[in-house]
This record gives sequence, structure tokens and C-alpha cells, in this order.
Amino acid sequence: MRSCLCPGSFDPITNGHLDIIERATTIFDHVVVAVLHNPTKTGLFSALERVELARAATAHLPHVEVRSFANMLVVDVAKECGADVILKGLRSEADYAYELPMATANRQIGQIETLFLPGDLARGHLSSSLIKQVAELGGDVTEMVPPPVHTALRAKFVTSR
Ligand code: PNS
Repeated sequence: MRSCLCPGSFDPITNGHLDIIERATTIFDHVVVAVLHNPTKTGLFSALERVELARAATAHLPHVEVRSFANMLVVDVAKECGADVILKGLRSEADYAYELPMATANRQIGQIETLFLPGDLARGHLSSSLIKQVAELGGDVTEMVPPPVHTALRAKFVTSR
């Protein structure tokens, strides 16, 4: 059985992330979505909320497991999950420039390969931070995030406006 690790902050999971995860399930038998939490950084959603949202967004995918990790190297997360490779989506050259050193370091320190999947062009502009900004200022993010995330963003921002 071949499995991959899809690591990220997922604050929150977007339709861009979901596209990569869905396509990963067509290549791998098992996909672990690792929500990596750095307790020194404050995000919009708590670690628990991010995991719950990622689980709700991937509930239709039977071979996807969502797990949460704090203060761990991604290579150690991959080992703990028994993942064969790390899988990342690439939206742009900027993503490649950001990801390449991490992929090289992860191969050096963890003897694990990183595979890159090209992101869907129609979702290439999506990032968690862009979506949070649009949602905070009252913009419509319906097309950008899975429905449970849309509901959660509204709950966060409608009450704080
Ligand atoms: O969604 P993000 O913020 O782009 O995810 C980045 C993440 C969490 C995947 C990356 O920062 C990471 O791998 N963090 C874990 C710590 C680690 O292993 N760093 C060294 C990579 S060489």
C-alpha cells in the first residue's frame, strides 16, 4: 500500500488544497492530511478547528485521514504516519522556489522524497491568507472554500464586525 503525506497549516483548508488531496487519492492508496500547528504562531483557527474543518471537507474521501501535529518536523510526521512520500501542490514558480529547499532538506534529513502536483489553474490564486482577508472584509468566498469552511469563516467574521 502506497501512502502520501499532505502537510500544511490549513488555516483554513481551501478548494485549492482539496483539489490536490482529491487528486492524491487517485494516485495513492492512503492520503494523510497533516495539520501542522506551530503554537508560537497565532492563526485564525485553532489547531482543533483546522482539523475539524479539514475532516469535514474531506469526509467524502474514504482513503483520507486528517491528523494534527505540533512542533514537529514534517519528516518525523511522515515517519510516524508511515507515509512513503510528501506530496505538495504547486500553484506557481514562487511556490516552487519556496518548496524546493524544503524538499531538498527533507530528503537530506529524513531520506524522504517530495512529489509536486501542479495545482489546478482555476484555483492558482487561492491561498488561505487571501481568502481570510476577503472574508474578513465581507467579500464572497463561496467559490473558494469547501462549504464547512465558508460557514466557519462567516461565524468568525460576522460576530466580530
Ligand atoms: O501551509 P503552509 O504554511 O505552506 O505549510 C508549511 C509547512 C507546515 C508544511 C512547513 O512549514 C513545514 O513543513 N513545517 C514543519 C517544520 C519543518 O519540517 N520544517 C523544515 C522543512 S525543511
